[in-house]
Amino acid sequence: MRVGIIGQGYVGLTISAFASKDYEVIGFDLNPVIVDQLNQGHSHIEGVKSSDLKSAISQGSYKATTEGSEVADCDIVVIAVPTPLDGDRRPDLSYIDSACKVIADNLNGPALIINESTSFPGTIRNYIKPAIERYSKVKFDHQYAISPERVDPGREDFNQKNTPRLYAGLTPEATARTREFYSSFCDNLVEVSSPEVAEAAKLFENTFRQVNIALVNELAQISHALGIDVRETLDAAGTKPYGFMKFAPSAGVGGHCIPVDPSYLADVAEKAGIEATFIKRANEVNLDMPKYIAGRMAKDNGGSLKGKKVLVVGVAYKPNVADTRETPAELLIDALNDLGAVVSWNDPVVGTWHGSESSALAGADIAVVVTKHDVVAAEDILKSAPYVFDTTGKVKGAVQL
Ligand SMILES: NC(=O)c1ccc[n+]([C@@H]2O[C@H](COP(=O)([O-])OP(=O)(O)OC[C@H]3O[C@@H](n4cnc5c(N)ncnc54)[C@H](O)[C@@H]3O)[C@@H](O)[C@H]2O)c1
Repeated sequence: MRVGIIGQGYVGLTISAFASKDYEVIGFDLNPVIVDQLNQGHSHIEGVKSSDLKSAISQGSYKATTEGSEVADCDIVVIAVPTPLDGDRRPDLSYIDSACKVIADNLNGPALIINESTSFPGTIRNYIKPAIERYSKVKFDHQYAISPERVDPGREDFNQKNTPRLYAGLTPEATARTREFYSSFCDNLVEVSSPEVAEAAKLFENTFRQVNIALVNELAQISHALGIDVRETLDAAGTKPYGFMKFAPSAGVGGHCIPVDPSYLADVAEKAGIEATFIKRANEVNLDMPKYIAGRMAKDNGGSLKGKKVLVVGVAYKPNVADTRETPAELLIDALNDLGAVVSWNDPVVGTWHGSESSALAGADIAVVVTKHDVVAAEDILKSAPYVFDTTGKVKGAVQL
């Protein structure tokens, strides 16, 4: 069986690595730099080992390409392309659309087309299938299914094998073929009654996190105003063995999922005449956290940050990964600049960001920790400036959020 995977980023490459153990995988990506690196056996994704990639390449079970014609003979095509928000924070399906065009232009026979990209309920039925049919010059009787990706890059305890995977096809045949495909590398497959349920479940999982993170961020602000330690309060609440799930306060939410996916749900809700008030409020609270933090830092430093050298420590959106997509560090830097601070950043895991290099972890007037990687020692952070503000709860001795 030949499997084409459209998009070789976090999701697509991870699936490629697992699928290439049992299938011949063609990893299609528009980015020639990534494709060249992959064909030389260099993985650009945490969790996908270069050694595994090299052995798949040498066994002939993996090849990356920028040539759409390589997916021509695929029996299965998996879509794993970005689904961001546009400038108005509405779903941007342009990458999905271009993936549909690649599929339609190149497949030379009927295939099973599975979407793993996160999108709103109805995407496979009302968007992907019609788009492929519209773009296809020769009509084939393709099967369509959804299996939303749940990968958490950098995480070691849960992976493709042991993370339960939701799936549903538009037809019983599509459902059965999808189960067969994933069962070769996933132990726990959960069939749901329609693709829309799978699509909605994925959005709700991330909305649940977004709303709870916002709630705890609001609690952090309330706790500070009342002179209570928010983390101790959360630890205390966490001793209840049922009915409570602990979330941690932070500088905000980042990555491709939590800040983005809830807006996909809000958008379809609005179109259906329901206002997604929790999602909107959660967005506001999380997006305002950087301003709140900059304000606290200014207050603690004589009421102004004007001309002060402020070092932002950790610009990745979460520990031990180099991913800076939607990182709250970006908004924090904006907020600090607005207050007149002279801002630099340090992150040895990210290395280069927006064309500049990570600064030294030293010599600042003020440091603020957004993300604490394991390779950065808390003692070194404490030594980097006379005043250190910690949003992570991991730098003891620093001023806490
Ligand atoms: N990153 C995660 O942790 C994660 C987890 C679950 C779900 N998702 C979802 O999976 C989808 C993909 O996310 P990702 O993190 O892998 O994105 P990514 O940015 O890491 O990778 C996407 C890749 O797709 C390529 N691409 C874009 N348009 C293309 C096209 N038309 N044809 C071929 N390649 C194309 C890009 O060059 C890029 O390499 C998104 O919908 C995302 O929300 C991501």
